[in-house]
Amino acid sequence: MSNLGTAQLRRTMPTMLTTAAFLLAVAPGGIQKSYFGTTKDGKSVAAYTLTNAKGAKAKIITFGGIVTRLEMPDRDGKLGDVVLGLDQLGPYEGKTPYFGAIVGRYANRIAKGRFTLAGKTYKLAVNNGPNSLHGGIKAYDKRIWAATPSMTKAGPALKLTLRDLDGTEGYPGTVDLAVTYTLTNDNILRIVYDAKTTKATPINLTNHSYFNLKDAGASDVRGHLLHLYANRYTPVDSTLIPTGEIKSVSGTPYDFTTTKEIGLDMDAVGGYDINYVLEGGAKMHRAAGVVEPTTGRTLECWTDQPGVQLYTSFFLDGSIIGRHGIKYDQYHAFCLETQKFPDSPNQKGFPSCILLPKHPLHSVTEYRFGVAK
Ligand code: GLA
Repeated sequence: MSNLGTAQLRRTMPTMLTTAAFLLAVAPGGIQKSYFGTTKDGKSVAAYTLTNAKGAKAKIITFGGIVTRLEMPDRDGKLGDVVLGLDQLGPYEGKTPYFGAIVGRYANRIAKGRFTLAGKTYKLAVNNGPNSLHGGIKAYDKRIWAATPSMTKAGPALKLTLRDLDGTEGYPGTVDLAVTYTLTNDNILRIVYDAKTTKATPINLTNHSYFNLKDAGASDVRGHLLHLYANRYTPVDSTLIPTGEIKSVSGTPYDFTTTKEIGLDMDAVGGYDINYVLEGGAKMHRAAGVVEPTTGRTLECWTDQPGVQLYTSFFLDGSIIGRHGIKYDQYHAFCLETQKFPDSPNQKGFPSCILLPKHPLHSVTEYRFGVAK
């Protein structure tokens, strides 16, 4: 046995490090923690990179539970980013359009920022025209979540938890939340939402990933092929609040019951930003199927929620420069936000969005990636 001298150690270290890096690179999945940034009020934000047995990756930060990167193979097995995202915390703290974030307490809009529950009227921040959008000013997308990583049989996972106190952003009841991301070994990003409340409250949780299966947002998504498993949608007024009607998509630009290019009828509606009524009830059902013809990448969205918002990023305007110096322009991404219907707290005909203390919420959404044959 010999002790390694300093000089010898210096010579050997790079080899050891290279070997370690190599082992990490070929290891069948894992979780790597790194520093992502520090918030303006001095809180440290961590990033967790989940790598599954096939080498696919999801990078998730504790700020907003944001999925900042998601790397999936194309038909040649080449990994590429399929979401829009940023590598710095600063822009996420500012006014980003909810890129990759967990959205709550109530995703989507509540008309005029008010609702009445058990005879009491609650007032919320009005942050989108006359309405309340995506939980208010400092909502779930701007909070720091506690993280617990774990290697599970299905793949690497990250459990994020948050206590949302009674009265925060105007909502009743303290809600304890857990959102668990699993990057399964068969390339599914599974998101499990659990929540319990101390008082009845509206709740609507989603993930706001902006997908572009071709090039992570460098080009527009009009050529992606889309199928939606929805025969009906909820029409909206000029402020994007549902009118209360539930209409058939048949004969309208909203009809994706037969696969078509996202852009085919898009101009007629100025981009999609609309809730679809899914047919599957409370069981896990398919909401959407997407194919990107040039790379062959595919995405299926499955959920147990009653609705999905198709949003084709109308509000992106090129002012945000993302990863790889990409300018995020209008229509360069699409979102499939699984959800309760917008403005449900004020709409008697819509499925209930009220969480009761006796019945905790448990909900699953999956983004299943693959390649077209
Ligand atoms: C949702 C809404 C859109 C827009 C985006 C965020 O998809 O429906 O109108 O607000 O979030 O920019």
